Amino acid sequence: MGKKEVALVVCGVAAAALAAAGAAAVVRRQMWKSGRWAKAMAIVNELEDKCGTPITRLRHVAEAMTVEMHAGLASEGGSKLKMLVSYVDNLPTGDEEGLFYALDLGGTNFRVLRVHLGGQGKGVGKQEFQEVSIPPHLMTGTSDALFDYIAETLGKFVATEEEGYPFPGRDRELGFTFSFPVNQTSIASGTLIRWTKGFSIEDAIGEDVVGELTKALRRNGLDMQVTALVNDTVGTLASGRYYNPDVICAVILGTGTNAAYVERANAIPKWHGPPPSSGEMVINMEWGNFWSSHLPLTEYDLALDTESLNPGEQIFEKIISGMYLGEILRRVLLRMAEDAAFFGDTVPPKLKIPFILRTPDMSAMHHDESRDLEVVGKKLQAILEISNTSLEARKVIIKLCDIVATRGARLSSAGILGILKKLERDNITASGGQKSVIALDGGLFEHYMKFSASMESTLKELLGEEIANSIVIERSNDGSGIGAALLAASHSTYLQAPEES
Ligand code: GLC
Repeated sequence: MGKKEVALVVCGVAAAALAAAGAAAVVRRQMWKSGRWAKAMAIVNELEDKCGTPITRLRHVAEAMTVEMHAGLASEGGSKLKMLVSYVDNLPTGDEEGLFYALDLGGTNFRVLRVHLGGQGKGVGKQEFQEVSIPPHLMTGTSDALFDYIAETLGKFVATEEEGYPFPGRDRELGFTFSFPVNQTSIASGTLIRWTKGFSIEDAIGEDVVGELTKALRRNGLDMQVTALVNDTVGTLASGRYYNPDVICAVILGTGTNAAYVERANAIPKWHGPPPSSGEMVINMEWGNFWSSHLPLTEYDLALDTESLNPGEQIFEKIISGMYLGEILRRVLLRMAEDAAFFGDTVPPKLKIPFILRTPDMSAMHHDESRDLEVVGKKLQAILEISNTSLEARKVIIKLCDIVATRGARLSSAGILGILKKLERDNITASGGQKSVIALDGGLFEHYMKFSASMESTLKELLGEEIANSIVIERSNDGSGIGAALLAASHSTYLQAPEES
């Protein structure tokens, strides 16, 4: 062999060795990657397993809900379900008349409304409203700061009355929808039990919320009377009944979740007030605080709860409602980033920020039907600064959205079944074929279509075809404010007392 040939052979051997080394590196990399992938998939599978809501589990949850309802009605503190007496013993009839205001506070926004009620079957006339977001610092500040901000906004809204107030010599009247747990002491007074949904204003707890609002109204030069204080579920029930006499229950699936329903007064042992003439009383369940050993809870839920402003409370709410679904998803993604390098070698820093992933964004990803799952990619980029995700990874994210949202939706139908059972409306024989209408409101139900579809189909599945036909879910659009105005009207200070015969 000449020198040239020897050199060629040496080169050839070296090239072959290099190629072999390169191939080995690719294989190693693939194996490493598939190791990561396998780890990530193990996290997904474990989540799916722990969040499982087979029908038998849902039936147990529904039964536990019914049992807790009985316990909460029996005695004060008898259950995690507060079963609060609302003092609403007469729901709207259609006779309500006049110009009324409402104030709806309970989430990240509040609304002020002006409603003209036609009276005697004429329905609701002109409605005007304004929605204002609550600056986050006011959600954890002082009671005066929050109520002054609201009173100021209300004052400006009142000033936009076009034709002036039609009842000279009278104060304007207001229905106050305050969507937190309140111990009512009358239809127009009650003390705050605790905050939920990210509010935490210590000096308001135990205070009469109408008193606090009234003081703020006076400080801001407004002579208004609060004639009804209601929870959003109670307001939704009232407006639902105004339009449809078969409404028996209202459920909110929004930032928080809760339900109210019409109970027989003699089925409320803890009620020692005068027996209502209607024989009925609306109960605000505060079901967000429901807990049962049958609830499918995961490590992510437990950590979210421990780190929340209200640990140990509102567990049902924390696995169902809009404030929390996106946050649960973020926690799962963080674990996948940390333990399985799901987004590459480093953990995306933004993924560590609590509540950065909001439920509306999760919903947008979940509903992405584009071929490349473009919305998922864009959301990851815009919110978490995660780029270049593979299609496979995006598909996994959709699966996670599905697991978390489906659990919440199915559990909320189990809650509704619990109420129907308590009212004996869950079977044809007991219900006598009567229609039962459930008024449903809240942004989660309204905008997260896969959530609402799953909730409705699960309820049908739980009830069975025959009875499902007599249970109707009716969307109520922002009924809680109108409901408060209707109740302010039926409890107006200026209503003439019926003449004595
Ligand atoms: C929270 C509140 C409750 C309210 C619900 C829906 O659970 O405690 O009062 O009805 O959110 O807004």
